[in-house]
Amino acid sequence: MRDETTTQPGHEWWRSAVIYQIYPRSFADSNGDGIGDLPGIAGRLPKLAELGVDAVWLSPFQKSPQKDAGYDVSDYCDVDPLFGTMADFDALLDEAHGLGLRVIVDLVPNHSSEEHEWFKAALATGPGSEERARYMFRDGKGANGELPPNNWESVFGGPAWTRTTNPDGTPGQWYLHLFDSSQPDFDWTNRWVRDRFIEILKFWLDKGIDGFRVDVAHGLAKKAGLPDFLRDEAYWLTKPEDRPENPYFGNDGVHEIYREWRALLNTYAGDRVLCAEAFVEPLTKMAKWVRPDEMMQAFNFPYLVTRWVPEKLHKVIDDSLAAFHAVGAPSTWVLSNHDQVRHATRLALDPSTMTADRITGVGPLTEPKPDRAEGLRRARGASTLMLALPGSAYLYQGEELGLPEAIDIPDADRQDPTFWRTNGESYGRDGCRVPIPWEAEKPSLGFGPSDQTWLPQPAEYREYSRDLQEGVDGSTLELYRTLLRLRHEFGLGTGSFEWLPGFPIEVLAFANNGIRIYFNMSDAPVPLPEGEVLVASADVASGSLPAAAAAWIR
Ligand code: NOJ
Repeated sequence: MRDETTTQPGHEWWRSAVIYQIYPRSFADSNGDGIGDLPGIAGRLPKLAELGVDAVWLSPFQKSPQKDAGYDVSDYCDVDPLFGTMADFDALLDEAHGLGLRVIVDLVPNHSSEEHEWFKAALATGPGSEERARYMFRDGKGANGELPPNNWESVFGGPAWTRTTNPDGTPGQWYLHLFDSSQPDFDWTNRWVRDRFIEILKFWLDKGIDGFRVDVAHGLAKKAGLPDFLRDEAYWLTKPEDRPENPYFGNDGVHEIYREWRALLNTYAGDRVLCAEAFVEPLTKMAKWVRPDEMMQAFNFPYLVTRWVPEKLHKVIDDSLAAFHAVGAPSTWVLSNHDQVRHATRLALDPSTMTADRITGVGPLTEPKPDRAEGLRRARGASTLMLALPGSAYLYQGEELGLPEAIDIPDADRQDPTFWRTNGESYGRDGCRVPIPWEAEKPSLGFGPSDQTWLPQPAEYREYSRDLQEGVDGSTLELYRTLLRLRHEFGLGTGSFEWLPGFPIEVLAFANNGIRIYFNMSDAPVPLPEGEVLVASADVASGSLPAAAAAWIR
């Protein structure tokens, strides 16, 4: 059972936790409809406890028309029938807590679904109404309002504004959607919106959840006047610290919102957590989201998007520890999630040409295809390094199996709005969202009781099935299990960090709580320093550390 007592400030569980991201539609399907669900998750939780993680984060399972796989919520306090019922959620929460796992729920406050009652009311009541003031409605430009209010583009491609139609059929106002047109942005300057979200937070906190992962936590405050702004190629090629100020992402207005949320969380026992999905750079700016009176954690995206370049990895580790520690927060570490090319594939891409670090940048990955074996070697090395770093680490379902990106999904099967909004120019995120393989000889590789899966599973997923790796020395699953066990045993999550001198730049070497960690990013083996090898991502029996491998030594 988990410890219900409030920990001492400075020793909260989330400072060092390993948190496993469950993408509900692709984790485990209990009823054979091809879409994962809450009972499916509950049934597999013992496997996660065995793996040795501390908590799970569930991507959205709330009521939603699923235009953006649940990140378009139509009722924040209900479960979508696709995933089960509220009773199923309650059972899952009990099961998790019984296994000693904490549960973090996704919260999507930047926008709702177009099918939310509030948005429907906003459309029905017309310009100037209280209902419209909850969202970002504006008159268009041009003689007849035929032009969008500004030039902002949706993160998924295409314009960030959609024009409404009045009840009499004439064209009406425009509404802002930083993502898909089915995801209208809220107006967070409106106290009414803030009050409703306080109620939503309370609803889940009262149920006993352990915290929230906050979607688009950098987007709630828009700059007054909504000035024009374009993220063109030149913008992306500019260093983060030199880019012009973004009027919709990273504005200071968000911080007062999170201070209010933090104050609410502080009234609950049990160290509840808020984790920001704040895609802002540089890290010193991201650290503002985790000042002592705001959120507790922020996803370390600069770390995730670091390419296979040793100098860059060195720097991002230094920058992360410096930036987060300066505000008294732990650093987080993450290599994969449901929006990014899986790291077992991404790390084998050519670092000089890859654009796989932003949603609309992910083009076809077919030419040339990243080498699977090389990708896996690198991913195992990178994860072995990551899990030795002090702070909290996030894992994405399937990475413990070494799962690669599903590259060859037929166009007709693709579901990500990014694919459709860019006319197929951007492949979007379906490749990292394919249902994961549990049992090699079962239908849908054990994902569910039928052959159906909402995205097709590539043939090669069979060989990554969990049952083929369980108890198998050297498998990726056993590597993760060992890493997690040793990480706890040696207190690495709450440990210290010190680079070890005397190594070439391609070999990252550091110490944490008396353990030495080596990661060979060069193309050739290097001699392994003396000591007892606790765990290694590759065979080190010969006394050398192979290319792309990492080892922990005492
Ligand atoms: C970030 C989420 O991780 C992503 O999946 C989603 O599409 C956008 N936010 C919009 O909610």
